[in-house]
Amino acid sequence: MYKPLQIGIHHVKYPLIQGGMGVRISGGSLAGHVARCGGVGLVAAAGIALNSGFFNGDNYMEADAEGFKAELKKAYEIAPDGVIGVNVMVALSDFEALVEAAIEGGAKVIVCGAGLPLTLPGLTSHAPDVALVPIVSSVRAAQLIARKWEKGYSRLPDAVVVEDPDTAGGHLGEKMENIGTGDYDQYATVRDVKEFFRSEYGKDVPVIAAGGIWDRADLLYALEQGADGVQVASRFVPTVECDAAESFKQAYIDCMQDDIGLIMSPAGLPGRAILRNQEDIVLYDQVRNSTCTTGCLKKCSYKEAGERFCIVKALDRAQRGDVETGLVFCGSNAWRADRITTVREIFAEFFGEEAGTAEAEAAA
Ligand SMILES: Cc1cc2nc3c(=O)[nH]c(=O)nc-3n(C[C@H](O)[C@H](O)[C@H](O)COP(=O)(O)O)c2cc1C
Repeated sequence: MYKPLQIGIHHVKYPLIQGGMGVRISGGSLAGHVARCGGVGLVAAAGIALNSGFFNGDNYMEADAEGFKAELKKAYEIAPDGVIGVNVMVALSDFEALVEAAIEGGAKVIVCGAGLPLTLPGLTSHAPDVALVPIVSSVRAAQLIARKWEKGYSRLPDAVVVEDPDTAGGHLGEKMENIGTGDYDQYATVRDVKEFFRSEYGKDVPVIAAGGIWDRADLLYALEQGADGVQVASRFVPTVECDAAESFKQAYIDCMQDDIGLIMSPAGLPGRAILRNQEDIVLYDQVRNSTCTTGCLKKCSYKEAGERFCIVKALDRAQRGDVETGLVFCGSNAWRADRITTVREIFAEFFGEEAGTAEAEAAA
């Protein structure tokens, strides 16, 4: 029913990438355990400096790189031979430095979204074994990236993630007014991206579907519709191994379908989150008259004009357990969480009982 994934030189036993979840929702623990079960585990770069132990209040960029490498190390301690990678958002101010830190930390795969990673092959040319995987939400974006990479660097993506803006969590690569209109067709996009690489380059590039994949039926549907694999994020939040605080995980279990919706991020992108506490998030910064102390995003209306709230700190508060004034990003299916489970249980559910055994972990 499924085939292993080949991403560049990296063989992945089960065709599942754990989606990068910034500000320490997917740190070394979650990424390590997913890789140990035979999927691709991703440490997310965004906001990793905060709560890293390296941040002293005014060395954000330095702490980001150090914190990132420390989480990769943690992941490799859990899965020494696993396929461990990173997610680095192009929108981050220190995108280039974080790509370099990822390479230094031994990442095998670099996944990039929230912008077009047009220069990525140049930044990684000294590490050709590191697989490069852009996230797109349209064929046009995949074409732009492929043509630029091919022309400038004689390189094509090792896989492409197609992220559905109607269901995915976190920042979304589509305009607010185009989300939820019913016009977007996730699996037509998956097939069109696949076909583009076949017809234009004669290459079978793995295309990974992301967004709303919660259970085995969703996995099977994605594969049947032409995806080579799935990227799953929200489902891994309510697990023992996820790096977030217990109350963040509990927020998924407690939320209702109607609580999940879209916010406009100060980054200028829409984002999907639990919307129960929007006013308290904004109030937190307003009553303190706080200003930007990290400069974490290239473009940010809070950094530039003090508008609304600091997103990285709001996400950080939630990650540490303050879900009253913190921002809880989630995908559209997060309401389906009904208990805390384990990464191994999810693999067993998705890929059969044998995938969830200690022996399978050891063999992955
Ligand atoms: C809490 C949370 C944080 C996220 N952070 C990031 C991120 O830092 N970078 C990114 O490219 N995608 C991010 N995403 C998107 C996921 O990687 C993934 O593609 C998407 O959520 C898939 O949909 P699902 O959550 O329904 O499985 C985030 C998603 C969630 C739920």
